Amino acid sequence: MSIRVGLVGIGFMGKTHADIYLKSSKAELVAFCDSDPKKAAGDWSGGGGNLGDAAGKSFDPRKLTSHKSPEALFADPNVDLVDITLPTYLHAKYVIKALEAGKHVLCEKPLSTNVKEARAVAAAAKKAKGKLMVAQCMRFWPEWEWLKEAVKSKKYGKVHSAVFRRFASTPTWTWNNWILQAPLSGSALFDLHIHDTDFVRYVFGEPAAVFSVGNGGKATKGGVDHLVTQYLYKNKSLLVSAEGGWNADPTYGFTMRYTVVFEKATADFDIGREGKMLMLHAKGAKEAQVIACRASTGWADEIDYFLGCLAKKQAPKVTTPEDAARSVALVAAELQSVRTRKIVPFKP
Ligand SMILES: NC(=O)c1ccc[n+]([C@@H]2O[C@H](COP(=O)([O-])OP(=O)(O)OC[C@H]3O[C@@H](n4cnc5c(N)ncnc54)[C@H](O)[C@@H]3O)[C@@H](O)[C@H]2O)c1
Repeated sequence: MSIRVGLVGIGFMGKTHADIYLKSSKAELVAFCDSDPKKAAGDWSGGGGNLGDAAGKSFDPRKLTSHKSPEALFADPNVDLVDITLPTYLHAKYVIKALEAGKHVLCEKPLSTNVKEARAVAAAAKKAKGKLMVAQCMRFWPEWEWLKEAVKSKKYGKVHSAVFRRFASTPTWTWNNWILQAPLSGSALFDLHIHDTDFVRYVFGEPAAVFSVGNGGKATKGGVDHLVTQYLYKNKSLLVSAEGGWNADPTYGFTMRYTVVFEKATADFDIGREGKMLMLHAKGAKEAQVIACRASTGWADEIDYFLGCLAKKQAPKVTTPEDAARSVALVAAELQSVRTRKIVPFKP
């Protein structure tokens, strides 16, 4: 039996998720809620995002139940799974309400920009009947999953260094421009860079401390628009860093990259390098090898994974609510380091 989904927030990410549910054999999109009267009436056109607008053009949203409030959607007995793609500052409040209503919940990242609040949601999820997963999509991105496995298996030996990079132009398309207000989005630090922070934790474990430098004020008043973080591990020969920001010129587009130097190979991923996104430069090989991974996105695969877990009545393991809260805590440590220009210990 397919899982009946109610989607809350029909912006860039809501439409991306809708498109995935419409293509899935495991789910049926049955209801939605958006406070914008145009969208509530079924006109989902417009909006934007980093990787193109995935508006479900081939279907008519007017066939779905349009609820007047998130609470009304949570009370809908035809909804099994609530998917929260609302602006970040609304995540915690509505995740808790949806769990209290007995629903399963998928929530976009970041879970919150406040560590205490993120931990409170994780604690609420522990007691809830429904299951919660936070959409930390990089853990499901095929070429990033490949990296996780390569590090874990030690197939190419130990890792000497890993550098992650994520550059975007200033997001100007969000509802009421919420994303460029630091108290609402946490700025590029929590919105964009958390993808790399979460993945670093996933692959290399918890760092002992972080050292970050960053600047802000250009795009987001009072926030961090661009930063560089060195994750400091007990193992001093493991060098892991991530740089990200949203000040790039619009003509530059969106970049996500990693370069990981192993003892016996160097892996390089660049989302902009069509046909050869992931290249492996192995010791002794005459030329670099293209690593072909499944043609999918982390967004599609995270949703497919969560739907699979729900069908099997299992809690998701690839990412847990505690994990999502820890990633919020690590980003908060990075913010403290930017502000103090000091190394900040990380105690998850
Ligand atoms: N995983 C990723 O790669 C990725 C990419 C982009 C955004 N996101 C995350 O997705 C979330 C949403 O971002 P977005 O870019 O889609 O934002 P958006 O501004 O495009 O969309 C937000 C939508 O929520 C609606 N809304 C606002 N308040 C509401 C309320 N109280 N009740 C009902 N509807 C309400 C707005 O009308 C709008 O349609 C954010 O947390 C963001 O960080 C994740």
